[in-house]
Amino acid sequence: MRHFRFLMVSLVLLAAVTGLVWVGFAPKADAEYADIIINKHADKEGMQPVMFPHWFHRIRFKCKACHEDIFIMKRGANDINMSTIMKGNHCGKCHNGRIAWAPLQCGLCHSVGGNPDGLLTTGTQAPPK
Ligand code: HEC
Ligand code: HEC
Ligand code: HEC
Repeated sequence: MRHFRFLMVSLVLLAAVTGLVWVGFAPKADAEYADIIINKHADKEGMQPVMFPHWFHRIRFKCKACHEDIFIMKRGANDINMSTIMKGNHCGKCHNGRIAWAPLQCGLCHSVGGNPDGLLTTGTQAPPK
């Protein structure tokens, strides 16, 4: 029993310490991995802007899967639109119904200002650089 209690206390302390360390590094991680709003055209064309969940993708793929063959590593540097996606470029390299779902449910990507499909995005935008 004593051993058990010691273990529990250690775990709680460990969680507290790693929590602090994580908070300490969070701002930098946010700048690189937080959701990125892509909105060069969408708003102008009456579509909700796109919330790209960077972290969600980053934990599933190596950076090299996207950078820099598919996307230049700079916010706003890629001219993405529905025709490139439908032709299998940009998001369409994977969102083609094979590697990931096809771009048919518009609200899955065009979700800024409301996420009708209740996805796991954090809804926080990376701070401007
Ligand atoms: C896989 C994610 C994804 C899905 C699903 C998706 N889009 Fe997009 N769409 C984008 C991205 C990224 C852009 C570029 C946004 C920008 O820069 O403004 C875009 C841009 C657009 C634009 C503006 C540029 C253009 O191509 O005319 C329209 C309109 C648009 N989408 C409509 C739709 C409609 C309608 C659907 C559903 C049939 C849809 N999208 C589904 C990701 C997606
Ligand atoms: C599924 C594709 C994908 C993966 C995997 C990915 N990224 Fe990205 N990344 C993007 C897209 C899309 C953008 C936004 C490009 C744009 O706005 O035109 C971006 C933007 C960036 C930016 C610029 C952010 C800014 O604010 O300008 C950095 C830095 C970055 N990625 C780093 C990484 C790193 C490091 C990894 C691996 C740990 C990674 N990315 C993995 C798709 C990806
Ligand atoms: C390297 C492959 C790849 C690329 C490129 C890619 N995605 Fe994805 N994406 C995935 C996979 C795999 C999933 C998970 C699919 C599933 O759960 O069935 C996913 C899921 C998503 C989700 C749902 C996240 C959630 O919380 O469930 C969104 C939104 C999304 N992608 C948007 C985009 C947009 C916008 C782009 C282009 C800017 C893009 N993706 C480019 C592979 C990719």
